[in-house]
Amino acid sequence: MSLKDYLEEKRLLVNEYLKEYFSSKPFPPERLYQAITYSLFAGGKRIRPLLAITSYEACGGKAEDVIPQASALELIHTYSLIHDDLPSMDNDDFRRGKPTNHKVFGEALAILAGDALLTEAFVMFLQSSLFSPTALREALLTVASAAGARGMVGGQAEDILSEGKDPDPRTVHFIHTHKTGALISASVRIGPLLAGSPPEIHDALSLYGDKIGLAFQIIDDILDVTGDEEDLGKKTGTDQERGKMTYPALYGLERSRAAAQELIDEAKLSLGVLGERAKYLEEIADYLSSRTS
Ligand code: IPE
Ligand code: IPE
Ligand code: MG
Ligand code: MG
Ligand code: MG
Repeated sequence: MSLKDYLEEKRLLVNEYLKEYFSSKPFPPERLYQAITYSLFAGGKRIRPLLAITSYEACGGKAEDVIPQASALELIHTYSLIHDDLPSMDNDDFRRGKPTNHKVFGEALAILAGDALLTEAFVMFLQSSLFSPTALREALLTVASAAGARGMVGGQAEDILSEGKDPDPRTVHFIHTHKTGALISASVRIGPLLAGSPPEIHDALSLYGDKIGLAFQIIDDILDVTGDEEDLGKKTGTDQERGKMTYPALYGLERSRAAAQELIDEAKLSLGVLGERAKYLEEIADYLSSRTS
């Protein structure tokens, strides 16, 4: 099966699960429910769930079994986007091709929709009778740590605190590995944790996740300079406007592209121990490096 068809098939599973999860359990107040579903179903790429599913399958698991855990990652990611766009953060008006959450629902509801998505992610993650409590605990610890102060939130804080300062390599690396790399890497790592894979598989996938996670944010930075607003569904040129510490700001476009490509190549190399089973993970790495949206 081509990567495109493979990803489309898995994306459908995630979207169907999310739709069913929220429509079968609507909750008051309706305005909160609307704010949550507005952003969740605005058409994200679902990269983090897709990585979790592909990693789990590479470890011998079946996609259907890991859909709640994979989908929970999308709740965390969507919360992070809603908060990232707030006037006090990046102050963005467009996301996923639509007005940002706070533009439609107001800041208070946007903050609360984010809070709700983050919290619901843990409820969703625990929807499983298949995995052992130990495996589920390890996977959940990995995801929670990656999302919190030692991961994504720490990176987002440094991103905001560093606005307008002269970029330096250590800070940019910290921001990118934390605000974006951590959750992407955790998405890959829940595969071997839930499948009960041996340490060498876990280590290989961790390395792969770290590399593509950092590359993902470098490419996001590059697309903010060179990308098409319609394809991306968000405004471009905003990083420079806000004095963000980005790879292009520090290294220029050419060296940033080379850095991303090197990480992608290293990510693929780290999968050696998985042999044939690494096929889709390798192809995803290439797809991420050439993405335009
Ligand atoms: C955008 O993430 C924000 C970053 C962490 C770089 P995505 O590029 O995965 O956005 P969606 O989910 O497809 O909208
Ligand atoms: C966002 O980074 C990272 C998280 C949401 C955690 P950016 O601020 O660069 O993402 P975009 O460009 O707004 O999507
Ligand atoms: Mg930001
Ligand atoms: Mg932003
Ligand atoms: Mg960006």
